[in-house]
Amino acid sequence: MDLKQILKPDQTLVVVGGNWGDEGKGKVIDLLMANFDATVRFSGGANAGHTVFTPEGKKLISSLIPCGVAQNKTCVLARGEFFNLELFFKELESSKAIVGQVPEILIDEQAPLWTPYHRFFEMYIEAIRGSKALGTTNKGIGPMAGIYILRLAPVVGYLFEPELLKTSLKALYDTLKPCLEYLKSSQDFKEEIPDFEKVAEELLFYSARVKEYVTDTSLWLDSQLKEGKKLLFEGAQAVGLDAWWGTYPYVSSGISSPVGASLGTGLPMSVFTSTVVVAKVLPTRVGNGPMPSEMWQRQAAMDFARDHKELFVKGETRNKFLSAALEKINSGNASHPEMSQYFQVLGDERGAITGRGRSVGFLDIPWLSYVVRITKPKYLALTRFDMLSGLKETPVIVGYEHDGKKLPAGSLPPSWKLKDVKPIFENWPCWQENIFGYNDFAKLPKPAQDFITRIEKLLAIPILLIGTGPGRDAMIVKS
Ligand code: IMP
Repeated sequence: MDLKQILKPDQTLVVVGGNWGDEGKGKVIDLLMANFDATVRFSGGANAGHTVFTPEGKKLISSLIPCGVAQNKTCVLARGEFFNLELFFKELESSKAIVGQVPEILIDEQAPLWTPYHRFFEMYIEAIRGSKALGTTNKGIGPMAGIYILRLAPVVGYLFEPELLKTSLKALYDTLKPCLEYLKSSQDFKEEIPDFEKVAEELLFYSARVKEYVTDTSLWLDSQLKEGKKLLFEGAQAVGLDAWWGTYPYVSSGISSPVGASLGTGLPMSVFTSTVVVAKVLPTRVGNGPMPSEMWQRQAAMDFARDHKELFVKGETRNKFLSAALEKINSGNASHPEMSQYFQVLGDERGAITGRGRSVGFLDIPWLSYVVRITKPKYLALTRFDMLSGLKETPVIVGYEHDGKKLPAGSLPPSWKLKDVKPIFENWPCWQENIFGYNDFAKLPKPAQDFITRIEKLLAIPILLIGTGPGRDAMIVKS
């Protein structure tokens, strides 16, 4: 059965990340998108970095504008997405340069609107946290969510009501003043903090240009559903970073699990019946916070990427490193940090937006069981499966032990205790053939097929898509 047939019953489909971001959601959405009429972002904002390709194979990295832009599908930036005006126009320009004609774009009139105060407030919070800083992306996301809930946020529609915008900016400035003063007094802070009149002026500069895109997106989405249109909801970040169901407080501030699709669009929950969870075969994490499957300490992994840039460039040095590391892993003598180094380089595990090195973990079934419980997906998409090529076997986490007891499937200790769980490993056989670029399940070596079936059995969810490389066609659709 082809994808079109498989997706026929789904008028809506929500795609969310199953790890801590960077699962390759962009690529999955890219593939699914052909079967939908519009793509909708309901969460996150400038902190996301989705890589997609145009039909001609040109690469596009987008943060705010949904991936639909690459395939000329209507793009909706719904109320749950944190909106940044300046970035939007930058992205619009770069999209135009790559795709030529951009599709219809709709921005919600009540989406929270970014101001420089959000960024300064984030700098203040991270400075106060000191060594316990969250390691955010510095895009003002936490403050945008918090300030909105505190009912102090300027929103997109205020761009057409200058007095309302100024009143709102003044209230925000006055509220944050002690924090801004603190920042100004700190030695390393060299920036100018603009007064609210100046910020209003800068934002209003864009108001005429943005007007044509702004509307009540909830109403528009509702009308589309009534017309029988199919809508794809593009999650940002991941369940591990969901403000409520992730590893709090080491999370982002959006609702990245499927409930966010309803909350962020104003469509009733009954509309959302199908979810695809995208998970990497070897999960990764940047920033701070617990990840039980991690092969190496977070900072060490990040430093490794920073200090060995030469290994991340295609060429002889990288190839030599990879073959020596693989040989050591297959001899059974590699430590977990050495395995981390191998996978970091092999997968070019560095952030699309921040360039920070990502820490790599082993396939983690108990974590995914939790994600499955929270999201109840119809399908899984497993990305980067080709990374296991050439290995004799790989450790897989099949359970967690906590306080001397094995945890039941789907349960996790509270996040502040997650770092104390003891992973229970099994070694699963891998395969020698390089499956890079494969797109037919039947052609996979038997151990690779068995690997997939084993995950499906443990999680009791079918794997619909299997990623085997960055290219457009490097994806297996398993019916
Ligand atoms: P914030 O979203 O900038 O507030 O960052 C909070 C945490 O989420 C940090 O650990 C970030 O590294 C992480 N994070 C936010 N967005 C992404 C993403 O798109 N991919 C991976 N990590 C992310």
